[in-house]
Amino acid sequence: MSSIRKYESKDKENLRKICIETSGLSTETEKDREFLYLMYNDYYSEIEPENVFVAVNDNDEAVGYILCAEDFDKYLAVFKKSYLPGIKKLGFRYYTMAIGEIGVHRLFSKKYKAHLHIDILSECQGKGTGTALMNELKAHLKNKGINSLMLSCGMGNKKAINFYKKNNFKLHRNIMGSCIMISEF
Ligand SMILES: CC(C)(COP(=O)(O)OP(=O)(O)OC[C@H]1O[C@@H](n2cnc3c(N)ncnc32)[C@H](O)[C@@H]1OP(=O)(O)O)[C@@H](O)C(=O)NCCC(=O)NCCS
Repeated sequence: MSSIRKYESKDKENLRKICIETSGLSTETEKDREFLYLMYNDYYSEIEPENVFVAVNDNDEAVGYILCAEDFDKYLAVFKKSYLPGIKKLGFRYYTMAIGEIGVHRLFSKKYKAHLHIDILSECQGKGTGTALMNELKAHLKNKGINSLMLSCGMGNKKAINFYKKNNFKLHRNIMGSCIMISEF
């Protein structure tokens, strides 16, 4: 298993690479990739780096990450101001994907304020790295007085859904092709 540490600014490009390599979405065009950075990566590493943990290999290079926004209202305000305009410029299709995803999170954000994203390079999966990252984030949030986490996951991503269930997430709701999963700890 890789070791876990806090995010450092030198990890930013590796995080972007992991985001692209593990995305189930299209990554063919520059616009596709820019969308993924803006939607699933840059907010977390730039605005809440203290809530990001990485799994690193023997060369201290990130091979996986867990990203968290601890308060949805803060996330939404900053995301709308600094990241959504960039997504809008990419085109209507990207904009509607972003609005859909935010809208789904927003439905549950009054009760579950913190949300996460987790991705591990394929060659490093199935070795306990995801579980170690999840445990690290939960312990970190608990220290800050935060006791729940929400995420959305594609309904077809059975491997990830099983992983979340093993990590004490419960299926809360199926909505617009996504599973909303919640963990209280
Ligand atoms: C989903 C994901 C984050 C899980 O991370 P992971 O590092 O593979 O997870 P773990 O290794 O902790 O647990 C997964 C499996 O490995 C097993 N495992 C745990 N520790 C292990 C160890 N030391 N050695 C071998 N296997 C181990 C677990 O029991 C689990 O088994 P399962 O296949 O029966 O479920 C990862 O697979 C991933 O990044 N997938 C692609 C991107 C993605 O789908 N992200 C989520 C989007 S919502």
